[in-house]
Amino acid sequence: MMIKPIKNLVGQTADKDNFFERPRETKKLWDALASGEHILFVAPRRSGKTSLLYYLQDNPQEDKALLFLEVESVSSVEDFFSRLASALLHDDEYTSTSIRVGEKTRGFLKRIRSIGGDAVGKFEFTEGEKMLPHKAFERLLGRIVKNIPDGERLVIMIDEFAQAVQNIADKTPDDAKMLLLAHRELRQNRAISAKVQFLYCGSIGLEYVAERLGASNAINDVRTSHLQPLRKEEAESMIRSIVAHPAYSLAHNEFTDEIIAQILQQIRWLVPYYLQILLAELHTYTAENEVSRLSPDIITLAYNHVLSNRQYFVWWEERLRKAFKGDERAFVMAVLNAAATKDTIDAAEISDLAQKFSIEQHKSIIAALTHDGYIVQIEGRTGFGVSYRFVSPMLQDWWRNNVAH
Ligand SMILES: Nc1ncnc2c1ncn2[C@@H]1O[C@H](COP(=O)(O)OP(=O)(O)O)[C@@H](O)[C@H]1O
Ligand SMILES: [Mg+2]
Repeated sequence: MMIKPIKNLVGQTADKDNFFERPRETKKLWDALASGEHILFVAPRRSGKTSLLYYLQDNPQEDKALLFLEVESVSSVEDFFSRLASALLHDDEYTSTSIRVGEKTRGFLKRIRSIGGDAVGKFEFTEGEKMLPHKAFERLLGRIVKNIPDGERLVIMIDEFAQAVQNIADKTPDDAKMLLLAHRELRQNRAISAKVQFLYCGSIGLEYVAERLGASNAINDVRTSHLQPLRKEEAESMIRSIVAHPAYSLAHNEFTDEIIAQILQQIRWLVPYYLQILLAELHTYTAENEVSRLSPDIITLAYNHVLSNRQYFVWWEERLRKAFKGDERAFVMAVLNAAATKDTIDAAEISDLAQKFSIEQHKSIIAALTHDGYIVQIEGRTGFGVSYRFVSPMLQDWWRNNVAH
């Protein structure tokens, strides 16, 4: 089997050269798009969503143009639609790193903008007539779709959409609800939906954000697609690709089947990022100490280095600080700390904690932790109902070392 060496660039969105191909996941997204539906593409942070969207963009299907927009820091409806509009309208001046257009999409956008001269016009909602931002955007998109030839489609990928909704909700919940409803309107506009598909991507569950805003029905027409972790064989071949790169400290033949099996066993929840950080720690340790032979002990040592680096997973803790306040936060932390130290927590223990912190809606909070990829429901002990455990044993170990003490 041919191995494509890839560089271990931890934390950066994987680009063309360093992307480990994931044909199953790629196909799943193309198939979902082929159904003509609008997609909600979800997986926990650092699962490889953005990297995969870049890949789709770089390897587009014949009939599709893909526009990528990242909105994690957006905090108003106006800002949201202005950015979306400027992604569509700007010519070749993409100063913002949050907008990405491939070669093909660039040409596509140019074409649809230039048909009939200035047909598309500008995006304006503050000057002249007073128009709500989403209405102005709908009008703009309505003009754009007229110029999209039959049989072609524009896919607008909006990365970290739920985060933007959450940011807006923190300030003005009504605006956040309006944003969700506005998107529903766009999707229900037949002329738009015939030519444009939205792909909302997110690390946090949009369901819970919408539920809290009383707007669950504003997203129930969107089809959810999950990015799965790597299969064992895939993880194995990703490791082989990384250690085959000349920049890697150890010789690739040090990675015997036994060593690789040990790595997979320690990580268990096999997402690219987790492989990367373990291999990065291994690289640093062996390079600094001039170690050239691998042994099981060294792998364990590298694993422990991962756990003592707060940075690798600190987002998971910070996110809860943003999402929950007061008693709710105390409850969430107690649940996760218990799951981290005891491996599982059952429904009865969760109810006790909910009572202790006077939490009424604890089921929806647990659902949120599940949607966000912290915990997963498992069969509990017979007669004790369901239990929960951390999705990722590595995150669990990190949590126990860095948070639950
Ligand atoms: N297919 C892949 N090939 C190589 N590296 C990847 C791949 N997918 C993810 N990564 C790596 O994992 C990390 C997280 O990827 P990213 O796409 O930013 O995830 P997400 O958008 O889900 O948070 C990055 O360090 C990135 O380099
Ligand atoms: Mg991302």
